[in-house]
Amino acid sequence: MNLKLKIWRQKDPNSRGKFVNYLLNDISTDSSFLEMLDVLNEELISKGEEPVIYDHDCREGICGACGLYINGRPHGPDSLITVCQLHMRHFNDGDEITIEPWRAKAFPILRDLMVDRSAFERIQQAGGFITVRAGSAPDANAIAIPTETLEHSMDFAECIGCGACVASCPNGAAMLFVGAKISHLGLLPQGQPERAKRARQMVAAMEREAFGACTNFRSCEAVCPKEISISGIARMNKDYRRAMFAGAAAPNGKKR
Ligand code: SF4
Ligand code: FES
Repeated sequence: MNLKLKIWRQKDPNSRGKFVNYLLNDISTDSSFLEMLDVLNEELISKGEEPVIYDHDCREGICGACGLYINGRPHGPDSLITVCQLHMRHFNDGDEITIEPWRAKAFPILRDLMVDRSAFERIQQAGGFITVRAGSAPDANAIAIPTETLEHSMDFAECIGCGACVASCPNGAAMLFVGAKISHLGLLPQGQPERAKRARQMVAAMEREAFGACTNFRSCEAVCPKEISISGIARMNKDYRRAMFAGAAAPNGKKR
């Protein structure tokens, strides 16, 4: 198939970017979207031009590095997959494809299609972990967890930190991501000792970054490649409220 690509090019975080058009011929419908970009880059390098910089790592939908806007949609036209899992059979011969980086204040563009998502890492470092004694191998099943609880936790553990939720949100909010991280650990018995501290510290870290606030658009949930539910945001808010008001009397005089 032959394609017309319209790609955002930006030299560095401080330069003004712009769209540049490229014509690309003879792309196999079996190739992945990133392989298509690889072919473009080989052509650019052979002509002595700068290749298009884009992020990727695992190329199998688990690391979250490859996020892009494709024709105005995070991760492209297919649902529940990341860009690296998108194949060219979803496009037609002669199509024009617009490719942009995530657009969010908290994710500054480093170059071309690559953004800095280290704000997510700082939130994670603030409390997205559990503390365990790792001196010796624990007995198998030392802490029994009901299957239902485990699966509920796993639903949130699937978040790969790709950032599509932030990029799609009109407010640039990171609540789906942070809600997933807090819910994943907060549902497990191993996550209980630090549950309140985790909610307090991760929400505080989120607020220190340039993310906006949630106003229930739910675009995050619609574009998430891992089907993370906004119920994680409700869990995060509940844990945060408990952590901030623990011990304080409720208006009805009862303990919260
Ligand atoms: S919640 Fe979904 S869209 Fe947001 S970072 Fe996690 S996997 Fe990506
Ligand atoms: S490259 Fe890892 S999720 Fe796409």
